[in-house]
Amino acid sequence: MMEFMNAKRFVVGLGASITAGAVTLVLNTVVLAREPFTKEELADQEKQLLAAVDHGRDLWHGSNPSMSSNGLACGNCHPDAAASNPHTFPKFQADLGRVIALRDMINWCISTPQAGTPLDVNSYDMISMEAYAFYLYRGKQITPGLATEQTAPVVVKSGVGYPKKPSGIGVDK
Ligand code: HEC
Repeated sequence: MMEFMNAKRFVVGLGASITAGAVTLVLNTVVLAREPFTKEELADQEKQLLAAVDHGRDLWHGSNPSMSSNGLACGNCHPDAAASNPHTFPKFQADLGRVIALRDMINWCISTPQAGTPLDVNSYDMISMEAYAFYLYRGKQITPGLATEQTAPVVVKSGVGYPKKPSGIGVDK
């Protein structure tokens, strides 16, 4: 935490020292935060988020063949991320016998129902899968641990990348 704070902090020091007269003057200006993001920066950040959501949407519909060896894609069982319930993670997952994050459940569904190769949890693909699921559930109350709720996602917002045709890989056309 301290390292983080120090990295963010800019200390502008203006010091003058008059040793002869034993007078020391030190003026420090401490800036604790950067300027607010500009509209352009915010627009760029939103664009990059939507690009990840868009990439996640492609993956969800079968664009990475290594994620499935039986022709199934996430969208076959979770259309529009339905019943993926990202807002309920982390939670205890009975098959794995431990508390897991959403990415662990995504990898469980890749390796179990889709008999595919799990994603590197730190990869852009995995971040995009999470971005897609969370984006479709935006506005939902965060309720970690809830094991019973089955909810539909929020309807897809029309915007950059939407609507888009599925890749056609797998049966999810
Ligand atoms: C053949 C159908 C099928 C496919 C394909 C499938 N899933 Fe699942 N998914 C399930 C089932 C069944 C469960 C419930 C498993 C459980 O709770 O033990 C589940 C649960 C989940 C959950 C947890 C939902 C909750 O409420 O806890 C997530 C997240 C999820 N799947 C994501 C994915 C993703 C991402 C993919 C694609 C990589 C995918 N699933 C592919 C059937 C499927």
